[in-house]
This record gives sequence, C-alpha cells and structure tokens, in this order.
Amino acid sequence: MARTKYVAGNWKMNMDKAGAVALAKGLVENLKGLTAKYMIAPPFVYLDAVYQEIKDSNIILGAQDMAATENGAHTGAVSAVMLKDIGVKTVILGHSERRYEFYENDTLINKKVHEALKNDLDVVLCIGELSSHRIVGVTERICEIQIRSGLEGVTEEQLAKISIAYEPVWAIGTGKTATPEEAQEVHASVRSVIARLYSPKAADAITILYGGSMNAGNAEALLAQPDIDGGLIGGASLKADTFTPICQFASK
Ligand code: PGA
Repeated sequence: MARTKYVAGNWKMNMDKAGAVALAKGLVENLKGLTAKYMIAPPFVYLDAVYQEIKDSNIILGAQDMAATENGAHTGAVSAVMLKDIGVKTVILGHSERRYEFYENDTLINKKVHEALKNDLDVVLCIGELSSHRIVGVTERICEIQIRSGLEGVTEEQLAKISIAYEPVWAIGTGKTATPEEAQEVHASVRSVIARLYSPKAADAITILYGGSMNAGNAEALLAQPDIDGGLIGGASLKADTFTPICQFASK
C-alpha cells in the first residue's frame, strides 16, 4: 500500500507571535501545490494566530501536548476540547521532552491518547530509545514497550487516527541522526509490532515518522527508506528555508 508521506514541524518552545505568524505565512506560500501531508505545531499561545494563516491551506494545525483530562480544575492545563475549538486537528503525545523533562510516563501518555481519540483529534505518538538503551542493544524492546503501553485499549479502528514517530532521544536536537539503515531497521520493527498487536493490514496502513535532527541534507535518504513515511522535525522546522525542502522531498 502506498502511504502518503507526512512531514510535521514541532516548533517546541520557540518564537514570538510575529515570528510564528511570519513563518506560517511563508510556509503557506512555499507548500502550495505540494502533495504530501503537512502539519505544524506552534506553542499553545500562538495556535490561534497561526491557524488564521493556515486555515485555507494544505497545512494542518497541531498541538505539542494536551491534558489527559476534561475541562475543570486543572491549573495550567489545556484540554482537547479547547484545542479543537481553535482549529487543532492533531496532537503530539509522548514526546521525549515530555517524558524526561516533565516526567510523563506511559500510563499518562496512554490516558492522553484516549482523551485525544475521544475528542476526535489525530495523534502523533512519539517513542524512542536513549543512547544507553542503544549501547546495550535494547532499542527495539524499548520501542515495543512504549508502543504497547501508549496504545493500550486503542482499537484497530481508532488506530487509523494515530501515527507513530520514532525519535531516538540521542538524535533529538543534537545534530546526530540515525543513519537511514539504522532508522529503517527500527521502523520495520515498529511496523511488525503493530502487525502483531493488530493485523498486517493495520501495520501496512500506519504512518511511521522519523524524528531526530532530520534536515534538508539528510531527509531525502531517510524518506527513501521503505518504512519511513515522513518526519517529525524540530530545529529545521523553525525556518521556512529549512523546512520547505523536506516538505518537497516528501511530495515526490
Ligand atoms: P530535532 O527535533 O529535529 O530538533 O532533532 C525533533 C523532535 O524533537 O521532534
């Protein structure tokens, strides 16, 4: 099955309002006519302003995180309902920065996955090993644990709303990228986990993104791998000039 390539920009905690709006405007212009799937995830406070720029374009609005609970007394949290209300279509969950900086565990991430699905949001579920895991050879085992717990209770029908982002933690923001072969090996194993948990059909259909220092220089080789269906881009998504070429490779 030919899967549509998917390129997502995770802006993390960067930019001011004027910069966010300018970047969104630039991307709308640059990505016009390209045929892959595109998403940008600005900081919460700029979601609305960015949405106004991209709402009639081929770029989807994403959020970088979300609360695990419904509206109510949860100081500082942002709910799925609120995100939907301002045009968000998809949410990144389980990013390693959430796991390690904000102590999110697999149980909480699974709760967020269900909350997103309940509110009809798509999900990019992030998984990935630390460099210490890779050194001792447990990369695929770690990824499998994160997939099994992240997707616990998710039905095969709901799985259609989920993409997985394989992001080796040692490659995020470090300039060190997994080689296309290293990334392909893990992507193939992620797909086989989905085949075992669901079905070969579900495994064939699911989109698996690579993340970790993907840029205009290495994207083409990574995207050429059979099981790499796109990218979750941090640093290189912060400028139209560096994000656009990746989007173009994905559109080929
Ligand atoms: P990076 O970030 O491209 O800056 O490595 C990727 C990510 O964290 O999603």
